[in-house]
Amino acid sequence: MTMRLRRLRMNEPLRRLVRETFLSVCHLVQPVFVVEGEKQRQPIVSMPGIERLSLDELEGEVRQLAELGLGGVILFGIPQHKDEQATSAYAPGGIVQRAIAHVKKAAPELVVITDVCLCEYTSHGHCGIVRDGVVLNDESVEVLCRVALSHAAAGADIVAPSDMMDGRVAAIRAALDTNGYSHVPILSYSSKFASAFYGPFREAAHSTPAFGDRRSHQLDPANFREAIRESLVDVAEGADMLMVKPALPYLDVLHELRQRCDLPLAAYQVSGEYAMLKAAGANGWLDERRAVEESLTAIRRAGADVIITYFAKDFAKWQRNKT
Ligand code: PBG
Repeated sequence: MTMRLRRLRMNEPLRRLVRETFLSVCHLVQPVFVVEGEKQRQPIVSMPGIERLSLDELEGEVRQLAELGLGGVILFGIPQHKDEQATSAYAPGGIVQRAIAHVKKAAPELVVITDVCLCEYTSHGHCGIVRDGVVLNDESVEVLCRVALSHAAAGADIVAPSDMMDGRVAAIRAALDTNGYSHVPILSYSSKFASAFYGPFREAAHSTPAFGDRRSHQLDPANFREAIRESLVDVAEGADMLMVKPALPYLDVLHELRQRCDLPLAAYQVSGEYAMLKAAGANGWLDERRAVEESLTAIRRAGADVIITYFAKDFAKWQRNKT
């Protein structure tokens, strides 16, 4: 007798019957960049199809995302004013704080996640408070707590610290709890690598560090065990959800976390992963849609519950046209 595994692959009805992994739009989160001003839809050269939106444009956009059935959005703000203390990151009238209110009003069915970091708000582009060229840990955590509180106060459904400072999840949890926001979950960017794949995002968010890099706090791409420790520490500190970022180059980390803990897991298919697929698609070197669907399926197969991806809206449109 010969093993004939091809028997169950012979036609689409059979393949569908035994399919193991499914992607639903409700698990997808669309990143959205917001800027000051009016009637702004600023293209981002290295991310074709993605724009920075002013708040008036944001409303129509998120209504469309909600109609497509997406799970949520994650907001990134580009403020007018940057300084060394990142004060515009926690200002009550800050760009993200106002954007939250706009999204909640226009599309209450979307989950609003906010990125809690300082790099878009500091004049030097680092994720924390800098002294003598060093990103300070505990001083940065204090400011991050203020940022998270200001997002919660503005109505964010989930706060997502992406800075990779030590102890920030516990500190943010305590700050939320003592200020009446014990119901607000924390999605920790728990295993976040110092990656070249964030390049286009830094163009989009104007957050390239003026000097140095992020290697003093983000993970070494070579370190699997340390990445697992980072996430498990955040579980102990009270994170409600974990994240692996970038996604496709770190599926081993995602898969291991799926085995090791029962928290919902998110994976972030980052700007560089988007740019690669877009560029190859635009050149006719890849079938963009098939390559995107395969990538997202792989991320889910490895263990992601939630996928943050710049393709969320495109994917939802493709799904709609299928049926
Ligand atoms: C930090 C942050 C970054 C991204 C998400 N949050 C940039 C960085 O760490 O340098 C990158 C996301 C992407 O590349 O799509 N605020």
